[in-house]
Amino acid sequence: MVGYAEILVAFLFFLFLFLFHWIRYRNSPITNWPVVGMLPGILSNAWRIHDYATLLLKHHGGTMEVRGPSFTNMNFVMTSDHRNVHHLTGKHSSNYERGAEYHEIFEILGDGIFNSKLEIWKSNRRMIHSLLTHSKFELFLEKTIQKKVDSCLIPVLDYISQEELEFDLQDVFHRYTFDRICCLVLGFDPECLSIRFPEVSYQKAFTKLEEIIFLRHIVPRSFWKLQKWLQIGQEKKLTEAQKIVDQFIYERIEISKRKIRKEKNEEAPLFDMLTAYIEEEEMGQKGDKFLRDSALNLLVAGRDSMSAGLSWFFWLVATHPSVESKILEEMKGRFASKEADWRSVLGMNEVSKLVYLHAAICESLRLFPPVPYLHVCAINPDILPSGHRINPNIKLYYSLYAMGRMEETWGEDCLEFKPERWISEEGGIKHIPSYKFIAFSTGPRSCLGKETTMIEMKMVATAVLWNYQIKVVKSHSVSPNVSVVLHMEHGLKVKLTKRFV
Ligand code: HEM
Repeated sequence: MVGYAEILVAFLFFLFLFLFHWIRYRNSPITNWPVVGMLPGILSNAWRIHDYATLLLKHHGGTMEVRGPSFTNMNFVMTSDHRNVHHLTGKHSSNYERGAEYHEIFEILGDGIFNSKLEIWKSNRRMIHSLLTHSKFELFLEKTIQKKVDSCLIPVLDYISQEELEFDLQDVFHRYTFDRICCLVLGFDPECLSIRFPEVSYQKAFTKLEEIIFLRHIVPRSFWKLQKWLQIGQEKKLTEAQKIVDQFIYERIEISKRKIRKEKNEEAPLFDMLTAYIEEEEMGQKGDKFLRDSALNLLVAGRDSMSAGLSWFFWLVATHPSVESKILEEMKGRFASKEADWRSVLGMNEVSKLVYLHAAICESLRLFPPVPYLHVCAINPDILPSGHRINPNIKLYYSLYAMGRMEETWGEDCLEFKPERWISEEGGIKHIPSYKFIAFSTGPRSCLGKETTMIEMKMVATAVLWNYQIKVVKSHSVSPNVSVVLHMEHGLKVKLTKRFV
């Protein structure tokens, strides 16, 4: 039997806990409740999670401890302090790893580069690095982009502008980047980008995977594990999406293998990443699962981040006419003699001369990094430069989104879209270390596709801005969605006007 005294003690204990948390967090935009911790605050702000994280981090001086419900192991440290990020991705990176929970959340990625353990990751990274720096790759990349822009992107935009349609530019970029990354990775163009705007099941399945993987970050582990075990709710959808994606990739592996056997006789070599992996794999014996994991990781790496990057860039340019004019002025200055024929300026060498365009792209990636946050797990105790104590197994999130919006790093005008901040007095691009300009991450796991991304974004921006003026539909509101990639929640509704008729 529980007596009155025990009830009173329990009540006083809860009252004490409540008051303690209330006093500690009374001015904070989040409350740390007894038992449930900060979960209510996180869940009720999930719809604007990146802005909310920025608000919290600004309030707490760039680093804070986030408390999950008791007994759930959901506590973590969140930071946007570039000194901390430099610390944990630099000299102290050996003390921080992906962690068991990361591997569980991203299990679908198998042993590909994003989710593999140290030794496999090293060999994955070496392999991808050597592919991306292969002499044939640069040429292949340039030709693939030129072909896709010239024969698909521009004809679709021409059609849309002629018909004076309102349309979703983000959807166009999803389709464009999916086709293009499939060409690079699988040597196959699924032709998602066409005037018919076809529904492509495996393209949709990729988007579903990302959304559900994000949810695994914010709901308690036991909850999504139970859903997975029972095959209900979001986890059921994840399994269905995974089946579609797997079937697509395994089919492509089979087709590529057949092609390689045929090509060997014909002596007309192919070049795409899957082919290179298969040829390499013939020497090892890792099998189709390894090829599937490698291809899936590369598709994930190069697909959505690029389309998100392009969408935010064009939205910012369309809503900042003075930036648009400067980009066009620069293009005209560089390509003056080639005004009528934009195709002749659509090359790697040509676009590399566009300093202001480069600056505008960096600036949009600063404000809207396509990968909005990353996380690691501490192995041994540590103290961050901000003074925060880190215990073993504690998770550390760094918000790339918030890092681009910190006054301490970017100054008082940090929320403004100002490409000029990237231009040096000599007229070149200012070097900003990657632990500050974090969109491509930093340290040993930094993005391997940074150079190719910058080239491609400049080529697409040149082709589109040279040919069209973009007007965002007045009633359309733009805000980030809730996913592992920073897309626009409601797309980007625009109208186009052709510049040269
Ligand atoms: C706007 C475009 C892109 C952005 C913003 C971006 C950003 C990033 C970020 C933040 C990471 C770190 C991820 C992590 O640690 O979990 C990363 C990793 C990576 N990215 Fe990119 N990326 C872009 C495009 C690409 C493209 C086009 C490719 C390939 C062709 C690529 C290949 C990779 C690879 C292979 C990694 C894994 C590196 C490793 O774990 O060692 N990325 N990228």
